[in-house]
Amino acid sequence: MLSLFLISRVIGYAALVYSLGTTCTTPLGSGTADPAAPFWMQDIKHQGIAAFNPNSTTYQVFRNVQDFGAKGDGITDDTDAINAAISAGDRCGGGTCPSSTTTPAVVFFPRGTYVISAPIIAYYYTQLIGDATDPPTLLATPGFQGIGVIDADPYIATGQFYDNTNNFFRSVRNFIIDLTQTPASSATTGIHWQIAQATSLMNLVINMSTESDTAHQGLVMENGSGGFLGDLVFNGGKYGMSVGNQQFTVRNVTVNNAQTCILAVWNWGWTFQGVKFNNCQIGFDISTGGGPPQPVAAEAIIDATAVNVPIFLRPSANSGQLDGSLVLSNIKLTNVPTAIGLFSGDVLLAGGTTTITSWAQGNIFTGSNGTGLYTQGYIAAPVKAAALLDSAGNIFGRTHPQYADYAVSQFVSVRDHGAMGDGVTDDTAALKEIFAAFAGCKIIFFDAGTYIVTSTVTIPAGTQMVGEAWSVIAGKGSAFQDMDHPRPVVRVGAPGSSGLVEITDIIFSTIGPAGGAIVVEWNAKQTTQGGAGMWDSHIRLGGAAGTNLQAANCPSDGSGGTAACKQNGLKINLILLSSPVFSNLP
Ligand SMILES: *[C@@H]1O[C@H](CO)[C@@H](O)[C@H](O)[C@H]1NC(C)=O
Ligand SMILES: *[C@@H]1O[C@H](CO)[C@@H](O)[C@H](O)[C@H]1NC(C)=O
Ligand SMILES: *[C@@H]1O[C@H](CO)[C@@H](O)[C@H](O)[C@H]1NC(C)=O
Ligand SMILES: *[C@@H]1O[C@H](CO)[C@@H](O)[C@H](O)[C@H]1NC(C)=O
Ligand SMILES: *[C@@H]1O[C@H](CO)[C@@H](O)[C@H](O)[C@H]1NC(C)=O
Repeated sequence: MLSLFLISRVIGYAALVYSLGTTCTTPLGSGTADPAAPFWMQDIKHQGIAAFNPNSTTYQVFRNVQDFGAKGDGITDDTDAINAAISAGDRCGGGTCPSSTTTPAVVFFPRGTYVISAPIIAYYYTQLIGDATDPPTLLATPGFQGIGVIDADPYIATGQFYDNTNNFFRSVRNFIIDLTQTPASSATTGIHWQIAQATSLMNLVINMSTESDTAHQGLVMENGSGGFLGDLVFNGGKYGMSVGNQQFTVRNVTVNNAQTCILAVWNWGWTFQGVKFNNCQIGFDISTGGGPPQPVAAEAIIDATAVNVPIFLRPSANSGQLDGSLVLSNIKLTNVPTAIGLFSGDVLLAGGTTTITSWAQGNIFTGSNGTGLYTQGYIAAPVKAAALLDSAGNIFGRTHPQYADYAVSQFVSVRDHGAMGDGVTDDTAALKEIFAAFAGCKIIFFDAGTYIVTSTVTIPAGTQMVGEAWSVIAGKGSAFQDMDHPRPVVRVGAPGSSGLVEITDIIFSTIGPAGGAIVVEWNAKQTTQGGAGMWDSHIRLGGAAGTNLQAANCPSDGSGGTAACKQNGLKINLILLSSPVFSNLP
């Protein structure tokens, strides 16, 4: 205890010394936005660029749908204007372009009600963002035609827009999607989200019919490969969510008054944390052994609540190992007669008003024994460290900060302070000066672009930084070549430092070759729970325009690659005693 105390004092002292090294004098403090003013994102200067777009000087990253003719007046059909805002600039879609990193876009929706009669097509590498201070409504018309109000992978005559397992870089935030004017019996869907990694849905409310014949669905995924969703509310509908995907993380989702809260068509490696079900007939309906193309294989349900739900979880079969692995941890039931009930009507686990501390189905392995013992029933509860729990005893989580209360004047743009982000200029010195001048005093806005650094840049403890369509910080050059002595491209916090660090919508990367790069070294220790983390931020190596690490540079001919292809040895290095929170970081 004593030594830990001493260590924390030393860290505190080091942080103090470090913070004196910055030159800003007026700490950021709380948000000062006028409540009547729009979200800062609407009014901040828009000067982001797509560094590797062939037309980088004219290509428009930020698009306000109202600049493309959308009215948001609750009367005018805004569908075409919104789709024009999304697709302008020779973007990647339509079934002829499977993927591209050269046409990023933020499509911003000011406050208002946007009337929608056909899908809004969410293109590759796009963030659809509503005003976070007063989320806009997307109102589906009674005659709405199409699979979903938002469609991330349209079906077309030749197949689909994109390959569902290579459908990366999407985010949809801050909307209310209202399906209640469409006929209850139509299978109208809020979002068709057939996507893969580096994708997120957040802060959405989807309203549907509560008629007994309702066929509305909040969210539909047939397949895909990974992603994150959180802070969603589904009201009404046949299904809140109807989902088949893999490696997926869900947190803080509420489903009210749906017939089935969540239909799991096929699930490989899903974690559902903090789901809240109210007044559904079935909580989780899990098509084990069925569904295209695989059954539920591994699903963890953690910190759920269900109130007035006759059956919390219904697997379609109970045929032993074919049903895959299920783990239930800390499930609070209130008036839920059946905790686990089979399609056959048999009750596997009775409910009531009770808490299921820990129940599992699947093979349990002990030590190095490679043969599991099939188990179905209560198991010993895992030990959860107190530091991982919130005040209610649930796994702690923190929503992606959006700074909705902050005024535009509380942000500072890196392009306004000498950084170019053009994928060519060495921005190392400019970024060092910006962090020294503004960390802790302004929210540092990385206008869209690719910022090249040629030596380690430290993001000091105290920094809040926000990207735009995943702004890129990339290490390049001689500093990052020595594989025996790799160096960080970015250090989050000086060694031993502690304090607030919030990093959102940023990609950390390299320009190859960079065999001696540690892309991110994380030192900063949080001083408040969840106070040091990254959200919707990613470490991406190769495969993107401008990295010199694409297929042509690194042929997969079995030769083991060339020197020009050398890539870093380490993506992220978490220093002992640091305590970051990561959300949606594939
Ligand atoms: C570049 O801009 C020109 C003129 O606006 C346009 O015709 C062309 O299609 C653009 N090319 C790309 C690849 O975006
Ligand atoms: C969505 O549904 C909820 C629950 O019925 C309701 O409270 C809310 O006002 C609805 N929102 C809109 C925009 O209709
Ligand atoms: C994804 O789902 C669609 C619709 O069910 C199906 O046509 C397609 O074959 C599936 N793709 C894969 C790769 O599973
Ligand atoms: C859960 O999401 C709701 C919005 O749907 C938000 O108001 C609430 O703060 C979130 N809770 C947590 C613990 O993140
Ligand atoms: C390995 O585990 C299986 C299943 O529990 C058990 O039958 C077997 O005896 C174990 N083998 C050893 C060497 O402990």
